[in-house]
Amino acid sequence: MTQQISPATSVSGAIQLPGDKSISHRYAMLAGIAEGATKISNYSKGADCQSTLACMRALGAESETRDGILCIHGHGLDGLREPSAALDAGNSGSTIRMLSGILAAQPFTSTIGGDESLSNRPMQRIMTPLAQMGARIEARDNRFPPLTIHGAKLHPLEYTLPVASAQVKSCVLLAGLFADGRTTVHEPVRTRDHTELALREFGADVDVEGLSISVTGRPHLTARELRVPGDLSSAAFFLVAALIVSDSSLTIHGVGLNPTRSALLDFLAEMGAQIKILDVTSSGGELIGDISIRKSGIQGGALEKARTAALIDEIPVLAVLGAASEEGLLVRDASELRVKETDRIATIAENFKRMGLAITVREDGFEVPGKQRFHAAEVDSFGDHRIAMAFSIAALAADGPCTILGADAASVSFPEFFDTLQRVAQ
Ligand code: S3P
Repeated sequence: MTQQISPATSVSGAIQLPGDKSISHRYAMLAGIAEGATKISNYSKGADCQSTLACMRALGAESETRDGILCIHGHGLDGLREPSAALDAGNSGSTIRMLSGILAAQPFTSTIGGDESLSNRPMQRIMTPLAQMGARIEARDNRFPPLTIHGAKLHPLEYTLPVASAQVKSCVLLAGLFADGRTTVHEPVRTRDHTELALREFGADVDVEGLSISVTGRPHLTARELRVPGDLSSAAFFLVAALIVSDSSLTIHGVGLNPTRSALLDFLAEMGAQIKILDVTSSGGELIGDISIRKSGIQGGALEKARTAALIDEIPVLAVLGAASEEGLLVRDASELRVKETDRIATIAENFKRMGLAITVREDGFEVPGKQRFHAAEVDSFGDHRIAMAFSIAALAADGPCTILGADAASVSFPEFFDTLQRVAQ
């Protein structure tokens, strides 16, 4: 699908966002190994989270949606059954990496793969700890999907993550649920802690001490009633839109404000964004609130180390903000961007070039000068949802209509993106 985006003079109104992608995946997986019927409202309609649901169904955890509430029927820790065909994770790194932790502990062999992008994403990061726990995994070239996972009775593990990755941490913790004893993961920096919170919610015993997280194996997990907060990473596109389009004032209702994700709001505020957080409540251990933002002068800034890791999904749209800011944006320690749905350093740089925007690329990041003029262009998602959405936002500030090629990629996390954008951008 090709999408035309015209320049906007204002991004205003009030919106609600689809359920958080990270939290939706975790709730679906845990519901599928809990005992009973878990009811989830605002589960993400994005293709990635639908891939997780389809995999859980193929493993015997039936689900249906009634009156907008997703109901997943779990049959307990030992209730999954051998799928009749290969599992399809689609475009979703979270699905393949986290679900592998569960598959590694099953008394059967399963195969899990996905689309072309997923088939080129590194899997050694989960294969190493799962092999240490006792599973045997075969992969294309020993590192790429599809994975054939020969499940086994797993041993508990103490594991130090070589990369800051919530997906890998979660994979090991999920595998640890099936091992007799305590599994501990040490993180290099704090990554999103949705798995820890969700595990507690379903009844597991989880301990967090500094950067070390432990889970006790063989818990009794019970079905829950849960609400998924709006996705802060999806909110990022609209926050940046309101900051770069002149006459803007926007409220986003019911957004997840988990402190391991909200570094985005601190970074925007530090750069000068006028942001207010209102009506904060919590659900399933996750903070939820409303965010209001108005057009503000943005100074620019730098991302490195732990902050880069905390904002890794927001970097494409922050690059756009950087180009519109006073002093630009420097991003370092971001080599993980090279192994996302696309090599995001390369795809950001290519679209910058097409819009006549300057960018200096480094191996582990890039530098974008500020005060740049956005020129109308044909940009490309390259099949990457966050690139599609980031450059749709850039198009709002361009000097003429832009074309987004492969715009349908947005539906991986946010199928309603273009409708929502149309409602608020005038
Ligand atoms: C995610 C973790 C991050 C993030 C991804 C979702 C998660 O990936 O980029 O979009 O839900 O745990 P890594 O674990 O590869 O850093």
